[in-house]
Amino acid sequence: MVNNFRDDTILEMLQKPVEIFAGIMPLKRTLFTNRTFLRRCRKIDAVELRLLMIKNRNFLSKWLQPQPEVLRLESVVKLISEDQMLAKKGVRLDLGIFDAITTEMIGKIALHSVDYGIQRSGLVSYWLDEDKVGKGYMTEALATLVSFAFEEACLHRVNVKISAENKTSLSLVKKLGFVQEGLERKSLFINGKWCDALLFGLLDDEYDARADSWMENGWLGC
Ligand SMILES: CC(C)(COP(=O)(O)OP(=O)(O)OC[C@H]1O[C@@H](n2cnc3c(N)ncnc32)[C@H](O)[C@@H]1OP(=O)(O)O)[C@@H](O)C(=O)NCCC(=O)NCCS
Repeated sequence: MVNNFRDDTILEMLQKPVEIFAGIMPLKRTLFTNRTFLRRCRKIDAVELRLLMIKNRNFLSKWLQPQPEVLRLESVVKLISEDQMLAKKGVRLDLGIFDAITTEMIGKIALHSVDYGIQRSGLVSYWLDEDKVGKGYMTEALATLVSFAFEEACLHRVNVKISAENKTSLSLVKKLGFVQEGLERKSLFINGKWCDALLFGLLDDEYDARADSWMENGWLGC
């Protein structure tokens, strides 16, 4: 009997909560940072998202996977539909980042590769409109998504994988207290060549220790 109880408890722990993102982060919900808000993209955002991706194609190709030369509206609509399906499955949460004053979309951030098994972890990736970089917007967006990941999605660990050459992104995660845990040699094919990737992680108790200072710094909204 004792063993059965233990097995049941372990099974329960390993069971992935179904539809967690669709449940706790439905389409109508918004997360606020100090100067931006984050919400899931809807099909009506496709036009704006497409223009933002086209505008930033060259900038993003330097740091992310190659961006398509031609980006059709139907492809962006399909991308948004796929994001919604993955959010319902609880494996990926894609959020648009919007300027709180103008309400224009200025970037995207995602919590993906979410595993509710023995890892209870997720990977974060993000990008911003080139015109908006260097103003602290992503510090707010990342702090807010990380806070959501620990406090609402109940993850134990959040990971980030960054090209060793991406000084801005490295500064960003270090500023938030992510710890460098490893290096994957020639792991990311970016800008036409294989780059080493640095692996960073933040644990739930490390987040707990930092959350107050994030709020004091104005990085977490209401
Ligand atoms: C990475 C990115 C999201 C950062 O967004 P951001 O809003 O400019 O970031 P923040 O302003 O919040 O923070 C960036 C920090 O890096 C610092 N920084 C900027 N350029 C730097 C450089 N060349 N070397 C060292 N630090 C640098 C900034 O000073 C800032 O730190 P501070 O607030 O202590 O001064 C943005 O540059 C981007 O979209 N890049 C292209 C896509 C990308 O690289 N995505 C990440 C893939 S891992």
